[in-house]
Amino acid sequence: MLRIDKRQKRNHCRSGNEDKIIRKGVSSFMASRVFHCLSTEQYDRKFLEEISALATTIRLISKSKAGADRLASLLSHKRAMLYFVQPSTRTFLSFQSACQILGMKTADVRDTSTSSEVKGESEADTVRTFSSYYDVIIMRHYKADFASYIAQVLNNSNRPVPVINGGSGKDQHPTQALLDVYTLMHSFQDKGGVDGKTIAFVGDLLRGRTVRSLASLLTRFTGVKQYFVAPRELQIGADILSYLDRHGVPYTLTEDFRSVLPVADAVYMTRLQDEWDEREGGEKKTINIQDYSITPENIGLLQPHAVIMHPLPRRQEISPEIDNDPRAVYWRQVRNGMWIRAALLAMIFGVAEEILRLGAAEGSSFLETGKEK
Ligand code: NCD
Repeated sequence: MLRIDKRQKRNHCRSGNEDKIIRKGVSSFMASRVFHCLSTEQYDRKFLEEISALATTIRLISKSKAGADRLASLLSHKRAMLYFVQPSTRTFLSFQSACQILGMKTADVRDTSTSSEVKGESEADTVRTFSSYYDVIIMRHYKADFASYIAQVLNNSNRPVPVINGGSGKDQHPTQALLDVYTLMHSFQDKGGVDGKTIAFVGDLLRGRTVRSLASLLTRFTGVKQYFVAPRELQIGADILSYLDRHGVPYTLTEDFRSVLPVADAVYMTRLQDEWDEREGGEKKTINIQDYSITPENIGLLQPHAVIMHPLPRRQEISPEIDNDPRAVYWRQVRNGMWIRAALLAMIFGVAEEILRLGAAEGSSFLETGKEK
């Protein structure tokens, strides 16, 4: 009879790279502890590597019923409030799914017309009320810095629960940047990693908070060159450029997308953020960003190993025909958002080491098959 010893079986089920990631994660034993997640400023390279290893471990453990059940027992005593007063599909649902993966219960407020804010209650009091019932507040708000303000309010209260910024105004979207970095690390894991790569940001860079957060976070890698490709009226803010200057990051601003396509290792597409025109009382700007699109006509200019990213939602900037191109990774980004947010919650609530131990245990029955899109 052919006997497969447990260790052999385990190795058989997991790719060599994934095995390395998990072992490395458990050997460094998660020194990082996190509380609030407000801005990408908070994260160093070590943190990015740790959270990525943890996200991969959660993804692999989730594949088996035994693993998924074990994960769902870890935070079954915790509750999360999802306070999303700006539209959201992916960020909201991926946080909700991340909570479910770890067994957390969730509640949400998405429409302030149904909360006591309409009775004149201040936003600070509303959030203090949430902290009386919930163990973490995950929030999206149209005001820049609002999550930081709320974190400050709670720090000065007698129940300072963690605050996670799920998008603040035109300013920051730190968890999107974490999932984007995770996607880049995966995409380039057999191509020398993210170091030394050329990343092109394309579209409405002035008001796209995902671009601002990711451009800053990429300074944690060495030798990364950045291109900002946009019409002049929508070019990236001077504050981000001076941040890059301070970190010695080379960058180029251009309006010529076609000239950048052949040199990019990753193109990060974005939509026109015209909801801001109306919010600020202006007319919708009639800026034509048709030329800042990937189509069957220009995709041939992109290198074979390059990846196409998008935080979504998209409009015309990526033709649907591109979805089946192996370089398109935006649907993988969507799924990665769930793993990285579960990893963040695990770190906040101190169960990261336990998860890594589960994944690395000899003959772990919690791990099943290897790669997944
Ligand atoms: C982005 C956002 O809300 O900033 N979406 C997301 O969270 N994935 C991008 C956008 O709205 O264009």
